[in-house]
Amino acid sequence: MLEQLEQFKTQADKAITSANTLQELRDVEVHFLGRRGKLALLLQQLRDLPQEERPAAGARANELKKDLIAALAHRAESLKGGTPASTSHVLDITWPGERMPYGHIHPLTRFLRLVTSIFSSMGFEIIEGPEVESTKYNFDLLNIPKDHPARDVWDTFFVRSPEGVKSAEGDLVLRTHTSPMQVRAMETRTPPVRFIVPGRVYRHEATDASHEAMFYQCEGLVIDRGIRVTDLLGTLKIFLQTLFEKKVKIRVRPEFYPFVEPGLDIDMSCLLCDGKGCPACKQSGWMEMMGSGMVHPKVLTNMGVDPKVYSGFAFGLGIDRLMMLYFGIDDVRLSYQSDMRFLEQF
Ligand code: DAH
Repeated sequence: MLEQLEQFKTQADKAITSANTLQELRDVEVHFLGRRGKLALLLQQLRDLPQEERPAAGARANELKKDLIAALAHRAESLKGGTPASTSHVLDITWPGERMPYGHIHPLTRFLRLVTSIFSSMGFEIIEGPEVESTKYNFDLLNIPKDHPARDVWDTFFVRSPEGVKSAEGDLVLRTHTSPMQVRAMETRTPPVRFIVPGRVYRHEATDASHEAMFYQCEGLVIDRGIRVTDLLGTLKIFLQTLFEKKVKIRVRPEFYPFVEPGLDIDMSCLLCDGKGCPACKQSGWMEMMGSGMVHPKVLTNMGVDPKVYSGFAFGLGIDRLMMLYFGIDDVRLSYQSDMRFLEQF
């Protein structure tokens, strides 16, 4: 009997190593361990053994069963790994490589790079600034004094200052616009200057298809002797025409911004209908592009620049909306959701 058991083991081991698929392995299992399998038959014969031989044979049979179950499980694991036993150690260098999926730049970043490259080609310096700003730079120095109604326009997030850092610059806020960098940057520069400040800004907004609580702006500032409104208009028109690769018309409307005088809103002839009127421009033929104006003498003074000698213009571009127009996107929130179905379209 013990001899038969050893034979059984040799056969079973051989069958397990030569099973090359999970199905084959399953057949091996049924053949050796199944209810009517080889082991079951051997166990039946146990009963006919003389009393004194039974315990040893029974113990050996149990041992073999355990070994077999372990060997089957082990083999199943290696088959699941996809390498048949006969080739598991062979490296097939002709097997085609797996293509690695690779990512790309986010459409918003791509657009921002396009915008900065256009201004860069016009000689503008590109600078960045802090997203946590003080009320001094975000408001005061831009001629928006405390309690001035203009502060209400910006729905501000206030930030708790670290313990003991009650700064002379007032409360900390998440900057509501990139304009504070106008004054900050001028602390280390003297006219003539020409720079843009791209970056994130924050407002306490209820979000919808055209509003986000966090979005991108690009500020611009030019200061030199004899800068006039026509310089502002020419620069922005060239910018828009280069961006959209199309001749466009611009028009200006008076608008109030405390840090410029006069303040202007710039519209561009509708890209889709060339000014004839369509749903995209609400039949007006014009699209709102940005706020701008001639830098207020008080702000120039806050920059340490003499308004009697120098003048300048400033503008603030809403990057997200411009990007939506550029790519034909209809919901600003898509930019910040990391939804692959959206991102893979670019
Ligand atoms: N900072 C303004 C805003 O966020 C945008 C703006 C308007 C910037 C006029 C300017 C400007 O530089 O001249 O609404």
